[in-house]
Amino acid sequence: MDKNRRIGVVGSGTMGAGIAQVFAQTGYPVVLMDAQPEALDRAAAGIEKSLGRLVKKGTLGHEQVPVILERIARTTKNEGLRECQMVIEAVVESAKVKSEVLVKLDEVTSPACILATNTSSISITELAAVTQRPDKVIGMHFMNPVPVMTLVEIIRGLATSDETYAEVESVTRELEKNPVEVQDYPGFVSNRILMPMINEAFFCLMEGVASREDIDSVMKLGMNHPMGPLTLADFIGLDVCLNIMDVLQGGIGDDKYRACPLMRKMVAAGHLGRKTGRGVYEYNK
Ligand code: CAA
Repeated sequence: MDKNRRIGVVGSGTMGAGIAQVFAQTGYPVVLMDAQPEALDRAAAGIEKSLGRLVKKGTLGHEQVPVILERIARTTKNEGLRECQMVIEAVVESAKVKSEVLVKLDEVTSPACILATNTSSISITELAAVTQRPDKVIGMHFMNPVPVMTLVEIIRGLATSDETYAEVESVTRELEKNPVEVQDYPGFVSNRILMPMINEAFFCLMEGVASREDIDSVMKLGMNHPMGPLTLADFIGLDVCLNIMDVLQGGIGDDKYRACPLMRKMVAAGHLGRKTGRGVYEYNK
């Protein structure tokens, strides 16, 4: 895709900020949109911190940081996305909210604009169906932390065109990410496999099979996972994990995907993990 073409990102949480960062790092002008101005400020601070880690690591020159930050415009209005040629939505993992965002994007962007969703598990076909351009709707599922993880699952809806797929695959490679095409079924591949594992870790905790630290140690020391499943759940967000388990159970229709009651209880209590300062573990907010 032509580097002069503008990329929109809707939702400036962890994933949206990371997606905006990697496009800006690659040289694209980006419009980061969030209805909450303070969320945009938090995102800008997070992006600057992340770039700082890359500078410390020696993979980015410090003189590049202001140049990259300069490429990211911020807006609280959908109108701000009008000039974009591709928009990725990374709002809360809710089919209702994502559909509302896609309907608005359908209205404000040019008919040629590709609408991508960073959904972790929701049907691309269903989301595309709320737009007038299902051929230009596609799943681009990034992994957290976006600047570090190289996988992007690319998911076609039933109506996604070959041109849209080819464009998105090519842009993904420009981002120095690895595109992997998966079919549009609940959880795709990443969360069809990962989330049941995390869910089982919650069942082990609930049933007292081991402590939270020991459950994580088993998977780190035994399976060489960089993070234990309970730490990872706190990193992803327990609300996101719960939403995904509910999508798996509802979409596949098998109760083996029922969310662990302990996970559901923690979400109900607002213990969502790192982002709220408390999940399975406690964090300095
Ligand atoms: N920005 C830039 N660089 C970052 C970063 C960020 N946000 N986070 C970590 N890094 C870099 C660090 O600079 C460090 O680089 P060096 O090793 O070269 O110095 C490296 O990544 C490792 O970071 P840390 O030393 O801080 O800590 P770590 O060794 O534990 O690695 C981690 C952190 C990369 C997150 C690692 O713990 C990890 O890979 N965890 C698993 C993450 C994972 O599974 N993600 C997928 C979850 S599923 C998902 O996201 C999708 C979904 O649908 C829910």
